[in-house]
Amino acid sequence: MRDVAVVGIGMNDFGELWEQSLRTIWAESALAALSDAGVDSVDLITIGCMSPGLFVGQEHLASLLADELGMAGVPASRVESACASGGLALRAGFAEVASGLSDTVLVTGVEKMTDVDGADATYALGTAADREWEGFHGITFPGLYAMLAQVHMERFGTTPEQLAAVAVKNHANGLLNPHAQYHLKVSVEDVLATTMVADPLHLLDCSPVTDGAAAMVLTTVERARELGKDNPVVKITGSGLATDTITLANRKDLSELGAVRLASERAFRMADRRPDDLHVVEVHDCFTIAEIMATEAIGLFDQGFGAKAVENGLTSLQGKIPVNTSGGLKSKGHPVGASGVAQAIEIVSQLRGEAGQRQVEGARVGLAQNMGGLGGSSIVHIMEVA
Ligand code: COA
Repeated sequence: MRDVAVVGIGMNDFGELWEQSLRTIWAESALAALSDAGVDSVDLITIGCMSPGLFVGQEHLASLLADELGMAGVPASRVESACASGGLALRAGFAEVASGLSDTVLVTGVEKMTDVDGADATYALGTAADREWEGFHGITFPGLYAMLAQVHMERFGTTPEQLAAVAVKNHANGLLNPHAQYHLKVSVEDVLATTMVADPLHLLDCSPVTDGAAAMVLTTVERARELGKDNPVVKITGSGLATDTITLANRKDLSELGAVRLASERAFRMADRRPDDLHVVEVHDCFTIAEIMATEAIGLFDQGFGAKAVENGLTSLQGKIPVNTSGGLKSKGHPVGASGVAQAIEIVSQLRGEAGQRQVEGARVGLAQNMGGLGGSSIVHIMEVA
């Protein structure tokens, strides 16, 4: 395998972007990444997008978006793994460069979610769960994650205040991220005072519905050095992908995210790293309970200790292992197909030393964990300063 580097990153400001379309937000982030890389042509484009058909009535994205960039003719493909579609696009691009099939790849993720009303957005998101055995009966994602939270609370004594502490931390980080959808300073009391969406998850325990796009340019480490850029070369050293049953009733253990554990183990093995080696981590906090369970599954904390860790500040910007310095999905927003790419962009910014007020001093090894649905799929990437 060839060594793979990230040489360009770009994303738009996430939010409710009613005056833009899917193609314009995608092109904005793609052009920003190409400009950052200093390249004007690529061998391949990968696109992570969960459900353009249901959200904006458009399929056949690969051709549409290559053309939008003036690159009709360039090979392009869309990949889908629900909310992990962006992470899957990154893995597809990584595999292309590592294998030698392509030298330079534009990896992108996009979702335009606010053109439909809340009920239709909830329906579209719900297609990532088991339609026949779960969705048909009316359950939606806040309800499914609430069930995981209830099990975690019963088994490990996790409290609503500890769940709220995740939102407080991520909104504090999001205040320092100009791309974030929400710039809010909130306290535990504020979170607990918001509407109960699905017990024990309040409105501020949930990620929002978001429009957004994110893009990266990958090439070989050799070519990255030839491009002669000032910032450090960031290398992707580990990539892990795993699946789990998406039918909740078939899960052996509702208190752990098995796909996240497996994907992390695979990424650590490829990178020859351990959880203790990490300096900065982005995890898939679509709900506050998801961040706690992901940090346990990655191995940052023992099972049952993730909630205490966030309560004690271990995952804050100044903590032992900062988690979701970007503000996470909670504050930065969660345009489902784009989130996996945006998480990796935060890690690259941190490793380059370009994260501004949210910079983790001396960060040299980082991890990004993306997840589909209720953890039915997960993709983990480890990145390092080369
Ligand atoms: N975090 C912070 N603020 C939020 C928010 C969130 N997650 N969701 C909505 N808001 C704010 C809105 O900006 C709005 O503020 P305003 O009154 O100042 O304009 C207010 O809360 C009401 O917004 P609205 O869009 O009417 O909320 P809603 O009740 O329709 O939707 C949720 C709220 C939580 C149900 C919705 O955001 C949701 O479904 N989130 C989960 C998305 C999801 O499942 N993603 C996939 C994960 S696997």
